[in-house]
Amino acid sequence: MNMYDLITKKRDGGTHSQEEISHIIKGYIENKIPDYQISAWLMAVYFSGMTDEEAANLTMTMAESGDMMDLRAIKGAKVDKHSSGGVGDKTTLVLGPIVACCGVKVAKMSGRGLGHTGGTLDKLEAIPGFKINIDPKLFFDIVNTTGLAVVGQTGNLAPADKKIYALRDVTATVDSIPLIAASIMGKKLAAGNDGIVLDVKCGKGAFMTNLADAKKLAKLMVEIGKIKGKNMSAVISAMDQPLGSKIGNALEVEEALDTLKGKGPEDFTLLCIELAAEMLKVGHIGNSKEERISLIKEKISNGEALEKFREMIKAQGGNSDVVDNYEIMGKASHIIDFVSKNSGFISEIDALKVGKAAMFLGAGRATKEDKIDMTVGIELFKKIGDKVQKDEILGKIFYNSDKKLEEAKKMLMSAYKFEEIKEKSPVLIYDIIH
Ligand code: URA
Repeated sequence: MNMYDLITKKRDGGTHSQEEISHIIKGYIENKIPDYQISAWLMAVYFSGMTDEEAANLTMTMAESGDMMDLRAIKGAKVDKHSSGGVGDKTTLVLGPIVACCGVKVAKMSGRGLGHTGGTLDKLEAIPGFKINIDPKLFFDIVNTTGLAVVGQTGNLAPADKKIYALRDVTATVDSIPLIAASIMGKKLAAGNDGIVLDVKCGKGAFMTNLADAKKLAKLMVEIGKIKGKNMSAVISAMDQPLGSKIGNALEVEEALDTLKGKGPEDFTLLCIELAAEMLKVGHIGNSKEERISLIKEKISNGEALEKFREMIKAQGGNSDVVDNYEIMGKASHIIDFVSKNSGFISEIDALKVGKAAMFLGAGRATKEDKIDMTVGIELFKKIGDKVQKDEILGKIFYNSDKKLEEAKKMLMSAYKFEEIKEKSPVLIYDIIH
């Protein structure tokens, strides 16, 4: 097989066989095919697309490029959840405890964040003592006894994706639907769960900026998972504005705890309930959506979900007193209000800009080496569609150093747009695909 011919085939709209895909990906990880040829092939895929079968074959080749986790030592249905990313997205912290106390096992391997705000692991590390590097045997034991654990990646999962993603990042080939699907699903299939719930974000702060593309991506990932024998569901949710009210690591843990206490922001609570219901469905718990939602609400109102989070914190070495006392995570030395420069209805709160403002304060990393400041961040009091007066408080900024404060404020203020007449209320959940 010759890489020149394979590039030509894809450029001209041809369909690759499994052997051809395997030749391309293996050749690349073994350094037998150079970056420039893979770059040309990625661009050919970007323009010519892939059939579902090609995308499924690419996904499996990605998954099998490294370790395939064997979770059979964990008893019961194991369900994973993946979000295609967003500002203020702390859903894992809420979903894990809820579904674990409904009987679904959550053996979650999460990532750190780069840019914007931290990833799930960074958020959990805002809890003093919380350990994310846990050896596989202990990880399995915790999931078997507690029902859930959230840890850093163990093993070498989908190394081909790591190498190819780095190349996509610099060749303008990230936003190709089959490439995104293979990248996400390759890692998910390698993680070894029985069921997968995908939260596909759609909007200004997401990879998919329009609903038609978000649906295509969701359908493709669901299809790939099903071909590989997984129970699948994808929720398409909005990422036009930050999710919930708090952005920043300790602040997001606070908001997750508030939500488990039944006092979370409306949009975030609603999304958590929808995603948890889908996790229960793919984990074969409950006979109808109504039954699943009522079980979820019961686990929140009777305090079981909150206690489950406390158990997980303890099992992973963290100070579980944080559940009752948020100050254990520390506090930013300065808190200031920011106010509206306009009167009217809020028509836009650009999630990406709010995320960048939080990053300037120290809540995220600009480079892998940067250290996160757990206590800084932003709290938003208003959402899209809310009416505000000039000089009304829009939210709070939590900071420790004023080095980049002005830059952060400028970025934050530029995230807002206003209109005189309320045009429409924002949608939170667009669709659910099974
Ligand atoms: N997230 C991933 O893991 N891969 C992509 O290609 C895009 C988002």
